[in-house]
Formats: sequence, structure tokens, C-alpha cells
Amino acid sequence: MCAIPGRLFWGFRLEGTAVGVEVSVSGLTKSFGSQNIWRDVSLTLPAGEVNSLLGPSGTGKSVFLKTLIGLLHPEQGSVIIDGTDITQCSARELYEIRKLFGVLFQDGALFGSMSLYDNIAFPLREHTKKKESEIRRIVMEKVEMVGLLGAEDKLPGEISGGMRKRAGLARALVLDPQIILCDEPDSGLDPVRTAYISQLLIDINANIDATILIVTHNINIARTIPDNIGMLFRKELVMFGPREVLLTSEQPVVKQFLAGDRFGPIGMSEEKDEAVAKAEAEMQAAGISGGGTKDDFSEIIAQVQPNPGMPVRKAAIRHRRNVEQILHTLPTSAQVAIRNNFAQDERDIAEGNASDTTIAAVEAARNGFAEYGGFDGAPMTVTGNSVETTVPHQVPAHAAATAAVTPSAERAAEQSTEWVTPAGNDSPTQPISTTKDSGGTQG
Ligand SMILES: Nc1ncnc2c1ncn2[C@@H]1O[C@H](COP(=O)(O)OP(=O)(O)OP(=O)(O)O)[C@@H](O)[C@H]1O
Ligand SMILES: [Mg+2]
Repeated sequence: MCAIPGRLFWGFRLEGTAVGVEVSVSGLTKSFGSQNIWRDVSLTLPAGEVNSLLGPSGTGKSVFLKTLIGLLHPEQGSVIIDGTDITQCSARELYEIRKLFGVLFQDGALFGSMSLYDNIAFPLREHTKKKESEIRRIVMEKVEMVGLLGAEDKLPGEISGGMRKRAGLARALVLDPQIILCDEPDSGLDPVRTAYISQLLIDINANIDATILIVTHNINIARTIPDNIGMLFRKELVMFGPREVLLTSEQPVVKQFLAGDRFGPIGMSEEKDEAVAKAEAEMQAAGISGGGTKDDFSEIIAQVQPNPGMPVRKAAIRHRRNVEQILHTLPTSAQVAIRNNFAQDERDIAEGNASDTTIAAVEAARNGFAEYGGFDGAPMTVTGNSVETTVPHQVPAHAAATAAVTPSAERAAEQSTEWVTPAGNDSPTQPISTTKDSGGTQG
């Protein structure tokens, strides 16, 4: 952890002194008896950044979350949090480390015999010496935040599934955790509540710079909320890195998962047998639909920004710096998408449409991040078993963002779409559009 002095940053509020906590996972392997769930998983959740973990049902996403907080014990590997390997530490140290966490479990994990109020107050009573009046203030603030005012005296069995989920989130937030793990925060929620919860997580991130990991099947969340995305499949981490890497990936399993199509390597029981795959290939050849969306995921949708009045997302500035550092190592399609985003940010600023966070991140990049002290932690890397790295040369991305883009005037004006030539590549690649908005699906 490092501290950033509370101060004005090019006129924006950078509140608080804490910086989120990095979670560094290395070579993690977990089995139950003879059933291996996943093996050799390595990734770093960069301090304060928002991350998503995707993967077919049963691939071990919830097991991964529980392993991060030491509820489940891996056979191999380490999970380093704030300098402590929680797979090796004492029960006492683990108890202390867990105070950094706020966890929304997949099933809500509320105590059935306690009111929502007592459920949400539980961590405060367990981990702090706050007076009941102070506890009441905090609990009611979180109850209001998740839209449950008036329901606080009900038992979990007396409310809807979506309400239970929101109560679980309120409980996860009461200690202002530095690391927030959310296992499918959207399951059981309608699309509008999902948008509110997603916005809430971004606003919390802006306010307290918490490191966030969201396990989700909701592709709209994956496209608009996280800085980084990972995916588990067939017992391995397929990839983990800046969201553009996964969203522009050509890997069949990633494309199938994003599109929600039944044709592809993922089957009903995760892995398809050959006969089913062959039959489906024939159906596909005959023009039969696999049911998936035809969305172009390489069209990167703008990230949801903090609500007006919220502080700048400090993690967005760090993320931009991290991405600039590793840009040259990313697959070409991700580089193109990222450069396009950078160029779109510049246009938004010129047109007065940029959020405070975007302006601050671009300003920081223009100044080589020199004014923004206190970066530490491991340099970001893209991990995964099937990520190819390309493009051997390095160009400062903020320079490349403007230099490398050759806008096609009519297209840019009409659709925010342009032909992009990555630095060092003479031929234009496919068009990538970048659209900026505040959330909902573009479909
Ligand atoms: N405590 C446990 N004991 C034995 N096996 C378990 C335990 N917890 C999970 N598993 C097994 O681990 C595998 C992964 O489960 P997990 O709940 O992590 O999947 P998931 O990716 O979260 O799926 P979903 O998207 O459906 O929530 C499953 O086969 C499950 O049966
Ligand atoms: Mg799960």
C-alpha cells in the first residue's frame, strides 16, 4: 500500500489518503478430493482497479473468490495481500487481513434468523467498537445506498432474491473495505437495478479506491464496468488483463462466451464431446442460429464513469499508466481498441464531453504521470495461457493515441468510427468504433 496526499490534482478532487490494496495470485491450484477445479492460476488485481472474472458455470469462479479470502485452501500457490501470503499465514493474521475485505457471496449468505438491519450491522459489531448510534448511521446509509429503505426490519426469507442480493452488498460495504469481492451482484436483479448497482460500485471505487473483483455472467457489466477482465475455462485462466484484450479476443471460447452462442467450444457440460461439436458444425454450415447475440464486442463501449460530484477515480489514472506501459505487449486488436479509446478521450475533452476522471487521466498521461506520485506495486502484466503477445516496439501510448489514428472524417462524424493504423503497421486494420455513454446496452 502507499499513500497519496489528499490534494487538488489539476483542479480535481483526489480524496482520501488510502490507495486500494493489490491482490497478487501466483500459481494457485485448487482441488476437492480428486476433482481439480483450476490449476496454476496467476493474476494481479492492481490496487484500486475494478476487475471482472468471467467463465462458464462450474468453472470455479466462486471457489476462486473464496480462496482469495482464505475460506478455501489451495494445494499450491500464493495469494499475497498487503504483504501477507494468506495461504500460509496464521489464523490471527488471516482474521486481520479479512477486515480489508467486503464480500458479497453468490447466495447472499445472510443469517436467516436476523433482520436485514442486524445482518448489515453484523461486521460493524464483530470488527469495530462503534456505538450503536454510529452503527445505526452507517447501516441506514448503506441500506439507502442499495435501495432497501423500509425493508430493514424484514427477515431474509421475507424479501425477494434481488433484495437479498442488495442486502448482501450493503453488508459487504459497511466497513468501507479496501477490497470488494462481488459474486454475481446482478443475479436476481432486473436490468435497471443492475445498472444502479454497477454505478454504485464505480462511485465507491472513486470514493475509497477499493480494489474490486466482480464475478459476473452479465456481458453488459463486463463491457462497461471493469478496467480488467479475466476468464476461467477448462480449469485454467484463459486470460487476465485490460478489458480491451478480452473484448477484442479472437479466441473461440471467448467469442462464444461473450456472444452467448451455443455453437463453439463451450457445451452444456462445459466441454463438448466430438459428436455434438460435429452435429453443431453441420447446423452452423446449414445456416441454423446458435442463438447468440451478433454484437461486435471489439466495438469498445465507454466505461461507466463516477456520478457527477464524485471524486476522480484515482485507479483510472493508474490503470492508464499501466496500460501505456504494457501496450506494446498486447495483441494488435487490443492495441487498436486502446489507442482508439485514447483518441476518443482526446475528442471528448476537446468537445467538452469528458468526465473529470477522463480529463484527469489524460492530463496525467500528457505529463508523463510526473505529477502523480506514489505509484508502487508490481507492474501490470497480461496473464493467461493463450494470450499471444505481438508488436515488438514501444511507443508512448498518449503520443501514439493521437499520432497513430487516421480519422476518416465522414465516418468519425457519423458513427464515431474510424480506420486505425497501429504504430509500425502500414496497412489499416478493421474499423473499430468507440462510443461514449453512461451505461445501458447499446443493442
Ligand atoms: N465446498 C466444496 N466441496 C466440493 N466441491 C465444491 C465445493 N465448492 C465448489 N465445489 C465444486 O467446484 C466446482 C466449481 O464451483 P463454483 O461454485 O466455483 O463454480 P462457478 O464458476 O462459481 O459456477 P456458477 O457460475 O454456476 O456460479 C463445482 O464443480 C463445484 O461442485
Ligand atoms: Mg459461482
